[in-house]
Amino acid sequence: MDQAHLLAISDLHVVHPENRKIVEELRPSSEGDWLIVAGDVGELSTDIAWALETLSRNFAKVIWVPGNHELWTPKEDPLPLRGVARYEHLVELCRSLGVVTPEDPYPTWEGAGGPVTVVPLFLLYDYTFRPDPGHSRKEALEKAYEHGVVCTDEFLLHPDPYPTRDAWCAARLEETEARLAALPADARLVLVNHFPLVREPTRILYYPDFALWCGTERTADWLTRFNVEAMVYGHLHIPRTTWHEGVRCEEVSVGYPREWRRPQHKRTVPPRRILPYQAE
Ligand SMILES: [Fe+2]
Ligand SMILES: [Fe+2]
Repeated sequence: MDQAHLLAISDLHVVHPENRKIVEELRPSSEGDWLIVAGDVGELSTDIAWALETLSRNFAKVIWVPGNHELWTPKEDPLPLRGVARYEHLVELCRSLGVVTPEDPYPTWEGAGGPVTVVPLFLLYDYTFRPDPGHSRKEALEKAYEHGVVCTDEFLLHPDPYPTRDAWCAARLEETEARLAALPADARLVLVNHFPLVREPTRILYYPDFALWCGTERTADWLTRFNVEAMVYGHLHIPRTTWHEGVRCEEVSVGYPREWRRPQHKRTVPPRRILPYQAE
C-alpha cells in the first residue's frame, strides 16, 4: 500500500456549486490518509453536514475545527441555534460521523513523519490584531467601520451566552491552555486552528483592518511555548507556507471561486500535505 499522508484543507465554502464539486471530487492519495478540515466548510447546517459526511466517507479520519462561517446563524438556516449551542450541535454532528473535533481526545498520527499529536483548536479572535497598536479595541473597530471593512461576523456570529465574541475567545483560551499543558512535554504537535496563532500572516491582508477578526495576541508565544511541528490554519484565503519562530505554518484554504479563478491564486486542491513534510 502507498504511504499514507496527513493532509489539510480549509475554507471549502460549499454554498458555491464550484466548491461543492471540489468536495465531491476530493479523494485520498492512499487508503490511510487523514484529512484536517480547518474551518469555513459552510454556513448552513445542512451544507456543513453534507460536506463532512462526504469527506468522512472518503478519508480514513477527518479532523474538523469550526471556522467563523459555521458559527453564523443565517436566517435561512433551519437550525436556529446561536453561539455555544450551535457549536455544541456541530460537535454532536461530527461525533455521529466519526469526525474528530476540538472537544475530543487529540488523535496521534502514527504514519510517516509521526508520531505527532494532532490538536484541533477552537479559539476565535478578540480584536487584538489592531492595525494601530496605539488604538483601543473601540477605536480600532471605529476605524474599521469608517473604512467600510466590517466582518459579517458582527451581524451573524452570536456569542451567546457570552456577552461578546472576545469573552467567548477568552474562555476558549483558558480551557485550551489547560489541555495543552497536560500533554506530555516530548509530544510533537500539529496545531490546527481556523485563525493563525501568530499575527505575521495577516500583515499582507489587502484590508489591514480585517486583522481584527483574524486571531488573538494571546497565542503569540504558542509556537515556541509548545513543541510544535506545524501550525495549520485558513481564514485568510491566502494559501501559502511560511515559517515563524522556526515553525512551519500552512494556510490551506480553497477560498471563493472568484478568488481561486485568478491565475495567480494557489488554491489548496489537492489538499496540502502536512506530513510527511516535503519541501516545495
Ligand atoms: Fe473562509
Ligand atoms: Fe473564516
